[in-house]
This record gives sequence, C-alpha cells and structure tokens, in this order.
Amino acid sequence: MKILVTGGLGFIGSHTVVELQNESFEVVIIDNLSNAEEKVLEGIIAITGKKPIFEKLDLREKNSVKEFFTKHADVAGVIHFAASKAVGESVENPLLYYENNINALVYLLQELQQKTDASFIFSSSCTVYGQAEKMPITEDASVQPAISPYGNTKQIGEEIIQDVAKVSNIKAILLRYFNPIGAHPSAEIGELPIGVPQNLVPFITQTGMGLRKELSVFGSDYPTSDGTCVRDYIYVVDLAKAHVIALKRLIENKNEAKVEVFNVGTGTGSTVLEVIQSFEKVSGQKLPYKLVDRREGDVIEAYADTQKANKILGWKAESTLDQAIESAWKWEKKIRS
Ligand code: UD1
Repeated sequence: MKILVTGGLGFIGSHTVVELQNESFEVVIIDNLSNAEEKVLEGIIAITGKKPIFEKLDLREKNSVKEFFTKHADVAGVIHFAASKAVGESVENPLLYYENNINALVYLLQELQQKTDASFIFSSSCTVYGQAEKMPITEDASVQPAISPYGNTKQIGEEIIQDVAKVSNIKAILLRYFNPIGAHPSAEIGELPIGVPQNLVPFITQTGMGLRKELSVFGSDYPTSDGTCVRDYIYVVDLAKAHVIALKRLIENKNEAKVEVFNVGTGTGSTVLEVIQSFEKVSGQKLPYKLVDRREGDVIEAYADTQKANKILGWKAESTLDQAIESAWKWEKKIRS
C-alpha cells in the first residue's frame, strides 16, 4: 500500500518513513528541501534497506500537486508533515507561514477529496491549547487564541480538515505533538537544525559539543518545582510509531469519527533544569548554562493527558527522557565527527 509522506526528509518525517517501511508500507516522499537535505534518504536506506520514492516538489505549486496525484494515483494515505515551524520567524514573516502551511494543505486536500477513500494524518501541536488551565492536558481542553502565526496555521489547519471531512470521503487523525526530541538509535537520522537552534534539546547538544558557549535558560521564576518551564518531551521514534498506528486505524476503518484528535506525549512534564540534568547524566559532562529572562510567548507548563491515545489509539510512549536525550547526544556526536 502506497503512502505519501510530505516533508518526509525532515526530522519527524524521516523517522516516520523508517517506521512505515519497517511495517512494509511503500513510501513516496514529497519534500522541497527547504529545511531538509536529500542525503537523509541515505540514512533511511541504511536503517531499513529500502529506498523510498522521492519527488522533489513544492506543495505551494498547485499544478505540481495535481500532477503528482496523477502519477501516483494509487496513494492510499497521506501523512502531512511539510510545514514551516519556527515561531519567531512566523511572527516576522506571517505570509510565508500562511502560504506554506495553509496553501499546501488546501492543495493536498483538493486532490484527496476526489478519491473514494482517503486517510489523512495531520501534524498538529499542543500549541493549540495555549496555556491550558488544567494539567495534564486532555484533548477536550479548549483551543486558545494562537500567540503566533505558526500556532494559528495549526489551528486553521485543523479547522480546514474538519470542514472538508464533513463533505468528502476524507478520514483524518489530528496528532497534537508535545515536544519531539531525540534521534534514531542507529544515529543514521536525526534533527538537523539550520543555524542557531531555537529548540532546547538541539541547543543543549550543540553546547555539549562546544559549538555554542552556553545555554540560556529562559526564565527561572515560573511557578514550577524549580522555577523553569515544564514540557512533555516525547521521543521522536515513539512519535513516529504513533503515526503508523493512526494511519492503520484509518485504513482499517477503525476510527470512531471522520476526524479524531489525539495528544502525543509521554504524560510526564520535565523542567528545563531536569532536561539539563538528564543531558549531564547521559553525556557524563557538565553543561554550561545561565539563567536569563523569560522568553516571550512561552507557556509555563504543558504536558499531555495520554489516556485517550493509550486506550483508543492503542499507542503509548515507551522511551524515557534519558533514552531520548542519549539518542540526541549520539546523533550530535556523529554529525560533528
Ligand atoms: C513550542 C511549541 C511547539 C512548537 C515549537 C516550535 C508550545 C507549548 N510548544 O515549543 O508546539 O512546535 O515551539 O518551535 O507552545 N528553552 C530554553 N533555552 C533555549 C531554548 C528553549 O530555556 O535556548 C526552554 C523554553 O523556554 C521552553 C523549553 O526550553 O521552556 C522548550 O522550548 P522549545 O524547545 O523551544 O519548545 P517549545 O517552546 O515548548
């Protein structure tokens, strides 16, 4: 069965391609290489022994999307990762975000709605909850007004899918990720941030390698156990497996509604200082860091209630924070060697 993975050479996309191929799906990747490298394919082949089909294509080009679906008329399901994801950049260049994240989604759905049956998995984010009132966050927690254009594209994306599913044969699962981290245990694929990493874990591993002088811990006066923000760090391989399980659920028509929503997290919140401690433990070295002011737009805490994903989707995170950080460190050392 042929599955399209958009953004399949990116961080979460590449790990998901590996899990799909491990489960014998035939994978076709669309990627415009704007935030990924073609050599990621080599890592995927090294792990799985199989070469996915790769179409270099920009989803903002409506005609190219159309042509793709004519060529690959047998695509039975789509996992849609291709999107821009830097919060700060989205504030500076909102139209880039609306074009990349919304136009591309619309063009894909326009093709899919012509099919008699289509399964669609959407990369959403816990950012839609904003600062939720209650922890852990359940899927029925209200969606808060987005603080960035990036966050807004995830909310609008979810709404577009809901609307289209009502009037078409498209079935969809919206996966709301918490904070994906780590790399494949083989260290053949992992995160490849461009420039200075905005996210915590790649910044830590680059600092560990001496590429950055020190980590700035954004805020130490939050109402949390040690004053730093709390997040739910989910191992990227566990997250990748959630996509395969969600896809199978749709293909086998086990879904209970046209559109279902699941949190994808571990259920455990960790503070920034706990992540630093985990890094120091697995690497055996001290991490230089300083406590600085809060970063604008950060929520105090966000961690998932995972009961719905555990019971209904039948998926559970298996790896610990230490294991995920260890894999990120192994990857960082490999790419710098
Ligand atoms: C946020 C969004 C997430 C989105 C991601 C995209 C929420 C809850 N999450 O993640 O949906 O996909 O942005 O980038 O809205 N930190 C430091 N120093 C650093 C970097 C980070 O202290 O140099 C801290 C942050 O303040 C935060 C934690 O580390 O408390 C995690 O930060 P980050 O990795 O950027 O992810 P989020 O901001 O949680």
